[in-house]
Amino acid sequence: MSNQYTIAGISGGLSQNSMSRKFLNEVSKALGEQASLTEITYGDIPIYNQDIEFPTPEAVARFRNELKQYDAMVIVMPEYNLSIPGGLKNLLDWLSRPVNAGDPKPILDYPVLVLSLSAGISGGMVPQESLRSVLAYLGANVMPQPRASFGGVYGMLDEHGQLQLNEASKGFLNASATAFIDYIAKFK
Ligand SMILES: Cc1cc2nc3c(=O)[nH]c(=O)nc-3n(C[C@H](O)[C@H](O)[C@H](O)COP(=O)(O)O)c2cc1C
Repeated sequence: MSNQYTIAGISGGLSQNSMSRKFLNEVSKALGEQASLTEITYGDIPIYNQDIEFPTPEAVARFRNELKQYDAMVIVMPEYNLSIPGGLKNLLDWLSRPVNAGDPKPILDYPVLVLSLSAGISGGMVPQESLRSVLAYLGANVMPQPRASFGGVYGMLDEHGQLQLNEASKGFLNASATAFIDYIAKFK
């Protein structure tokens, strides 16, 4: 079946030429016709502060509303100082808060695929574990296996700045994308 699911893509890097976004595009290709992936941006969301929580800032409301339109989420996260990038953690802090007191958390039960990358050799496995832990705490359904992380990412760019995955990286990415389709089906 083509475009069985709609998936929200979250880039852990906010820059225009973000490596995370380049990887999101690869996830989109790997999903092929089984799902459509659309990036939701969040660079305009303010730093969480209880004093500005209500009324909900427009950018937060916009993000939460967009998220409702999708079946699942893919997060591609870069390693920043052995940790989760601040912008992404801030987004999760906002998503941990109900729209109205007593409401369920916005990403409760949401199926999520997590991938990580880094300039160094680690591939961001340490922050990937932290991110999984935060998402689990928020009640999201994070796909436990297979896991993929990509180290030395700048070595994967060609002379035009395009990402050229080698066969091994492509294999890990395809395995994650294929497994994620089956994983989403469990919650439908
Ligand atoms: C603030 C900052 C901290 C970083 N910390 C690490 C690090 O601890 N280990 C590492 O391998 N790479 C580190 N990097 C490199 C990033 O992982 C790499 O540049 C990645 O491709 C950035 O993804 P993005 O373009 O989506 O932001 C850091 C980069 C930045 C900007």
